[in-house]
Amino acid sequence: MSPQYTKTVMEHFTNPHNVGEIPDADGIGEVGNPVCGDLMYIYIKVKDDILTDVKFKTFGCGAAIATSSMVTDLARGKTLDEGLKITRKDVADNLGGLPPQKMHCSNLAADGLHEAIHDYLRKQGREPPLPPGAKKEHEEDDHCVVDVDSPIHIEDTVPKP
Ligand code: FES
Repeated sequence: MSPQYTKTVMEHFTNPHNVGEIPDADGIGEVGNPVCGDLMYIYIKVKDDILTDVKFKTFGCGAAIATSSMVTDLARGKTLDEGLKITRKDVADNLGGLPPQKMHCSNLAADGLHEAIHDYLRKQGREPPLPPGAKKEHEEDDHCVVDVDSPIHIEDTVPKP
């Protein structure tokens, strides 16, 4: 195991929470990092503006899996507004930190959640708080490092929905 990853990261990587697709999702967020090619989908169910279910699939590195798992845990049971306020820092902090070159993975997770909420709001005819096409945190990263030699770099083989 790489010493740069915390015990919590390793726990979420080896036993990720809330993996999978919600077939009748109320909102779907799809985000990708063009540099490393990693891709993430977040699915949400919403009732009375509460995130009653949140799941994910990712074609990503180990840190992407751990951050997706954490963001789904953080978002479940929260209101839409609270979900939109979950930041990459929240995700990374709850994992006990991430190596600097892996912070963009937590951007993907947070942005995926935000995208899913925006998708839900648009489908409801409600105005998403950010205009479509607004620059997202992960898109500001130009230093994505794909550490293919890392013992926790794997490719998820879940097919694209
Ligand atoms: S999301 Fe790009 S290496 Fe993790």
